[in-house]
Amino acid sequence: MSQIRSIKGTHDILPKESINWQRLEQIMHQVCRQFGYREIRTPIFEETRLFTRSVGEETDIVSKEMYSWEDKDGSSLTLRPELTASVVRSYIQHNLGNHAPSQRLYYLGPLFRRERPQKGRQRQFHQFGVEAFGSLHPEQDAEIIALAWHILSVCGLIANTKLHLNSIGSSDCRSAYKDALKDFIRPNLMQFSETSQRRFETNPLRILDTKADHEKKLLNGAPIVSDYFTDDDKIHFDSVQQFLNAMDIPFSLNPKLVRGLDYYSRTIFEFSSSALGAQDALLGGGRYDQLVETLGGKPTPAIGFAAGMERILIALESIEKTKSDPNLDIYFICLEDDGLPVALSLCQQLRNAGRNVVMDSLRRSIKAQLREANKSGAGHVLILGNDEIESNTIIMKDLKKGEQMTLQQSSLIEKL
Ligand code: HAM
Repeated sequence: MSQIRSIKGTHDILPKESINWQRLEQIMHQVCRQFGYREIRTPIFEETRLFTRSVGEETDIVSKEMYSWEDKDGSSLTLRPELTASVVRSYIQHNLGNHAPSQRLYYLGPLFRRERPQKGRQRQFHQFGVEAFGSLHPEQDAEIIALAWHILSVCGLIANTKLHLNSIGSSDCRSAYKDALKDFIRPNLMQFSETSQRRFETNPLRILDTKADHEKKLLNGAPIVSDYFTDDDKIHFDSVQQFLNAMDIPFSLNPKLVRGLDYYSRTIFEFSSSALGAQDALLGGGRYDQLVETLGGKPTPAIGFAAGMERILIALESIEKTKSDPNLDIYFICLEDDGLPVALSLCQQLRNAGRNVVMDSLRRSIKAQLREANKSGAGHVLILGNDEIESNTIIMKDLKKGEQMTLQQSSLIEKL
């Protein structure tokens, strides 16, 4: 039989990598606690219409990248391609807005998009994200961006990172802007790609996101959305910038920044990293003040972002190779089968006392086990042989100092 391998675009996270994942996850839990965000976990699959309604039918994610199937009862289900929609669904379903006027939530978990795999782009990937419901005020935008900034700072990634900031205005200003943009593009529409021509009808703002050089040239001099801001849009965006300046968070205004999901309004942002390759977005997000209502909830302003965990880890790796230190205290060597009950019991007592202990279970020669102990990074080796079993003692070797002593088993915990 040919060997069964993982699916294209999916990856195993092996033990030497999972230690870095755990560290990163710990940073995320800790920073969220500092900012008063609480964790939410939603199912991996949802009704397909949740994503078509929120992310938008014409987006790449919905039109090309979803893993959807018909369930046995005929309903259409989808592996979640993003988490904002799921969190909003849960927020509405459980009336979270009734419990507190503002809800600060965060999540960690796998997502699925059928994209062309490359470095930093996978078909199963993981996001850390936050969503804050209830406030339409600019200090909420500033808080969300500060949280992202804080995480990247704690990870040591800030020096290579750039914050791109834009506002696409509220829905009031966007329809006038869309008309102006279409008027500008229309005379040259046939020179645009098929995709852009389709977007011209469905979501002209997305044309601004083109990667094609000839289209970028055609867009030179296009109207910019800020010229169409309402007074409130302008005040909101000015305040976000003022607050970021007050917190010493540097940003670049990028009027061409548009996001690949339809639900946004007003503030949008991305952090990119020069430590990444072509897929340089570490995280992205923005306001989505209409989404709760669109999905059947009470009108509730909200803002959030999500970061690609793999991308953060790639960026970290390219800055400095993170150590895969398993943090082992003790490597236990039991040389006699008769001694196993005592050895297992001692290991358990040491773990109960908070030490990290591994016992060799391959019954190899003492030489092979000592070699393994040295490789393991443990501080101490404990050796239980025939003499020690008979005299209720144990040999303790300090691997750093190279010193060795024999102890009573009963005083082991105290000694260590
Ligand atoms: P997004 O920009 O689609 O936004 O994804 C956020 C981040 O997820 C990206 O910046 C990138 O780091 C990572 N990412 C996206 N696709 C892949 C992939 N195929 N492989 C690896 N990493 C990937 C959202 O998902 C929105 N829900 C963010 C948000 C939250 N907006 C408001 N709240």
